[in-house]
Amino acid sequence: MPKDFVYACAVAAYQVEGGWKDDGKGPSIWDTFSHNGNCALNATGDVADDFYNSFRKDIPLFKNAIGINSFSFSFAWSRIYPNGRGDHPNPKGIAYYTQVLKTAKRNGLNTSCTLYHWDMPDTLYQEYKGFLSDKFVDDYRAYAKTMFQAFGGMCDYWITFNEPKVTCTHGYGPNPEHAPGVKGPVTDWYTCGHNLLLSHAAAAQEHKDAGLKTPIGMKLDHMPLVPFDKNSAEDRAAADRANDFEVGWFVTPIVTGQYPKALVDAYGDSFPKFTPEQSASLKGSIDFLGLDPYTAAWATPIQNCNENVMSNDYPMCVRKFQTTPEGKTIGVPTGSAWNFLDPEDSVYFGLKLLQDRYNTSTLPLWISETGMTQINETELPLDRKTDDQPRVEWYRRTLESVKKLIDEGVPVTGFVPWACLDNFEWARGYTERFGVIGIKYDAEGKGSQERFVKKSAEYLKRVLHKGEKISTQV
Ligand code: GAL
Repeated sequence: MPKDFVYACAVAAYQVEGGWKDDGKGPSIWDTFSHNGNCALNATGDVADDFYNSFRKDIPLFKNAIGINSFSFSFAWSRIYPNGRGDHPNPKGIAYYTQVLKTAKRNGLNTSCTLYHWDMPDTLYQEYKGFLSDKFVDDYRAYAKTMFQAFGGMCDYWITFNEPKVTCTHGYGPNPEHAPGVKGPVTDWYTCGHNLLLSHAAAAQEHKDAGLKTPIGMKLDHMPLVPFDKNSAEDRAAADRANDFEVGWFVTPIVTGQYPKALVDAYGDSFPKFTPEQSASLKGSIDFLGLDPYTAAWATPIQNCNENVMSNDYPMCVRKFQTTPEGKTIGVPTGSAWNFLDPEDSVYFGLKLLQDRYNTSTLPLWISETGMTQINETELPLDRKTDDQPRVEWYRRTLESVKKLIDEGVPVTGFVPWACLDNFEWARGYTERFGVIGIKYDAEGKGSQERFVKKSAEYLKRVLHKGEKISTQV
């Protein structure tokens, strides 16, 4: 492993903390969304993994069982500002995260701190629809400033946003599966993305103004589109176009200060625009780029594409799919319908694509999330949950692709399995388990909070901490 390689495991506030109204915390959009019965088996994050109370035991467990040198987590904004903004942050919220960070340090872990992992204070949605208003930018800036002041000396890496594309395409637009989950036109995605990008730039500026030397980055969902038939010029063009819409939507502005041309051309005047100052504030606004490659998808053009053909992704005019009509899948199926093991496409091809498109040869890249859930994992007996060979295989093949990238000079400087611990998997509730450490609660998230270490944790520790071969069997 390269020197200073960040090897972390990750969790996010709403998915693990619980304590949804403890110590002055205000409701987030996910509290509201889950309380309205929008998640599998009516699950909520009210208790989740009880990490709010158990972090003192959990963090050393992560360190010992997984062998990490770093811990990646997110702050719940509504613990800091229960209504999204205010003259003073909630002292109990600040005290809580101070303890989390101190616990990580005491255990020899550096930390990457994400300011926003999907759990906006509900007030900001009720007041102005969250990301659909440019008012969001000022509230986020003020929140970020508070966090840099409070934790500037404690966080080693900063991440402004988790997965902006999913934030916008799953939270807004025609078929929102995530909070806030209110339907609107496709153009809402782009309004959301625009305000999110400007908020990122505002936070990056605050980080600079605070004089912090710690790196700041963004963490992007990364589902690269690969041509279904690599020999077909049409499929290659379709994949290129789709990658502009999907990967380029956020990478291009933070690297170049502009939106990809394909997006602007497709939407014309209705597409949001940056002023020259805004472009300048975005360009080069990251010190490292986090990518969350789970899975890839195939791309092929939609013939005779028009608004009626595909109201959701129009005008991209690309059919994205992972399974052919004959039932061939892009990779090995997992317990999540959208997720296949295909690291040669998602990791290797996906990171090379960035390198080729953006000439990012000096921009450090992290695999800031990757992982999977076993098929019907909640129903498996404990020994099969523990002996999670499909997940071991996931990490084995993924690390092979990472090694190939590093050997070819791509600066991969971080690797972060998702997740440290089984947790609340958003709209899927507790029915899907991504942890390399398990929890004995049931598919509704009820029952025992007892933790158990899966074989995948042992595998990762042996390879990434002890330096054993990637082919190691556990
Ligand atoms: C990511 C997300 C995580 C986690 C994971 C598995 O998109 O950032 O919070 O849920 O997917 O689905």
